[in-house]
Amino acid sequence: MNDGSQASARLGLPISGEGLEAGCRDGGPVGRLLPNSVTVVEGPVTAGTDGLWPEEVGHVVNAVPKRRQEFATGRRYAHRALKILDVPLGALLASRDRSPLWPPGVTGSITHTDRYCAVAIARTTEVAAIGIDVEDVTRFNLDLLSHVLSPREITANLAGFGPDRRQQHGAAMFSAKEALYKFLRGVTTVQLTFRDCEIAFDQGSDHFQVELLAEAGPFASGHRFTGRYTFAGDLVATAIILPRPAP
Ligand SMILES: CC(C)(COP(=O)(O)OP(=O)(O)OC[C@H]1O[C@@H](n2cnc3c(N)ncnc32)[C@H](O)[C@@H]1OP(=O)(O)O)[C@@H](O)C(=O)NCCC(=O)NCCS
Repeated sequence: MNDGSQASARLGLPISGEGLEAGCRDGGPVGRLLPNSVTVVEGPVTAGTDGLWPEEVGHVVNAVPKRRQEFATGRRYAHRALKILDVPLGALLASRDRSPLWPPGVTGSITHTDRYCAVAIARTTEVAAIGIDVEDVTRFNLDLLSHVLSPREITANLAGFGPDRRQQHGAAMFSAKEALYKFLRGVTTVQLTFRDCEIAFDQGSDHFQVELLAEAGPFASGHRFTGRYTFAGDLVATAIILPRPAP
């Protein structure tokens, strides 16, 4: 789906950080999931807080080094994405719930593992909300997943899979719920829990459906969104967007 209007990082997994440059255009996992109306910058998490505004550094001044690196990489990638969109640069602050305070006319989403980071933004004239998430598949097991997935979801989506596929797809379901959470923040202040939505993979495609089991702002219980997922090395990436209806 990418063309030259979308920037995404070269992917050379497993990611060591070396040789990966954010902003290249040959398709990182998040960029692959999103349409050209969304600008994506993704790549390795890198050290230091260079390039951040002092107000941004203030968000993580007391944080541990890992958190500082992840936050700073997200901000650097966000600045780059905003520059691509030709939006005047300024500090990208966060609200109390940590959601980024995007400049007027822009919506977006940030994700990071300890190695990989991605930022996706778009003009609100084209996209109403975006949620992206990347997870390291290796940290998931059924025990952990049973806290965020219902028995029905596990049976419907993972039954019959061997251990590796179960781990991969279980991680994808978790990631989809994280992406949904960030996505919903773009349209409502209502906060749902992991059990307030159900994920179902569309067999034979890279799409999933997520059904709300509770009302979320303008969306009634039972509303379904479609998202996309992909695997890249040890990572799974998910994305959900709400395009603006054509006028
Ligand atoms: C908010 C949450 C998704 C972030 O989890 P995480 O492990 O830190 O996720 P990631 O590393 O991928 O993303 C972190 C980024 O998400 C963004 N973020 C944080 N809170 C957010 C929120 N409430 N809304 C939107 N984006 C948010 C931030 O940009 C953050 O990075 P930064 O602090 O460095 O800027 C998680 O803490 C959470 O609350 N999960 C619950 C999900 C859920 O219940 N889903 C089911 C119902 S919808």
